[in-house]
Amino acid sequence: MAIQKTLTTAPKPKPTDESKLGFGKIYSDHMFKWNYSEGAWHDPRIEPFGPMLVSPAMSVLHYGQEIFEGMKAYRRKDGGVNLFRPFNNFERLNRSAERMCIPNFPVETAVEGIAELVKADKDWVPGTKGASLYLRPNIIATDEKLGVTTSQTYLFYIIGSPSGPYYANGLAPTSIYVEDEYVRAVRGGTGAAKTAGNYAGSILAGEKAHKAGYDQVLWLDGVEMRYIEEVGSSNIFFMIDDVLVTPKLNGSILSGITRDSTIQLAKDMGIKVEEKHILLEELIEAQEKGRLQESFATGTAAVISPVGKLGYRDKEYLINGGKMGEVASRMYDTLTGIQYGEIEDPHGWVYQVV
Ligand code: COI
Repeated sequence: MAIQKTLTTAPKPKPTDESKLGFGKIYSDHMFKWNYSEGAWHDPRIEPFGPMLVSPAMSVLHYGQEIFEGMKAYRRKDGGVNLFRPFNNFERLNRSAERMCIPNFPVETAVEGIAELVKADKDWVPGTKGASLYLRPNIIATDEKLGVTTSQTYLFYIIGSPSGPYYANGLAPTSIYVEDEYVRAVRGGTGAAKTAGNYAGSILAGEKAHKAGYDQVLWLDGVEMRYIEEVGSSNIFFMIDDVLVTPKLNGSILSGITRDSTIQLAKDMGIKVEEKHILLEELIEAQEKGRLQESFATGTAAVISPVGKLGYRDKEYLINGGKMGEVASRMYDTLTGIQYGEIEDPHGWVYQVV
């Protein structure tokens, strides 16, 4: 599908100090837009980034019929720009669409659209390793109506935000607090979809964890509250008895692209990987018996974030003496090495756009 381009006539000044970008605070010059109406996606286009005029009765504002993705554009040493597994992100967005009753879209056009956006905003892709142009695809229900039924019109848009690490302290080990009052998702709910409500519902627990001095929430399952699911807005891995374990996808856990890449890269490194149901009490026992070697979270924004401390009720458990572990460190170097085009890409994950 041809993508129309209207480039800005008033480019904004770009950030000068990449060490002070923060995460998701400033936006590049352009955005991608694509409309759905009368049963079809039409008019994919690049436009200047700017405010959108919407009706106060717009459906998404009332009932949250919305889905999104998190992606990044990485600056290569030769000046080029890479995307990472963009087809996988848009395929997942289509799976989220099914759960949220949003019409599927052709993945090829979405990839073309994001590539055109990155080309238009290539000078906004930071040059420092660890920083990137964070890309946020979003689909919102745009019908002007208050009935709780599916919208007949949608807007798919993508914005870009030059960003540094998700956690202000970069790769410093994070602390996580086991949430045993609120849950993120339940069986049959929307946990496996990347949709706004899951994140809105997590903010209260996040605030609770912050007040208790922790960086993130460790979520338990919504049925028995005994099994580990996710950490904050990322997936979680533990190294126990030399095996890398991560919660098995069960319909309420987000199927992370970084999670999938981590599993593949660990196998490439000769590390045994198990996707299984992990009981919190088994994890605590492993820590108490010295069998829990390290832990890290994975996500597009979080990349590979080491976990140095686990809090549960009134107890604290140090992981790997509170330091980043060897597997997390190797995984970070390998994953980011591929993303930034520094090392070989054995699985064909990189999609170079510039
Ligand atoms: C991402 O990792 O890209 C996400 O979408 C998580 C987000 C809430 C920062």
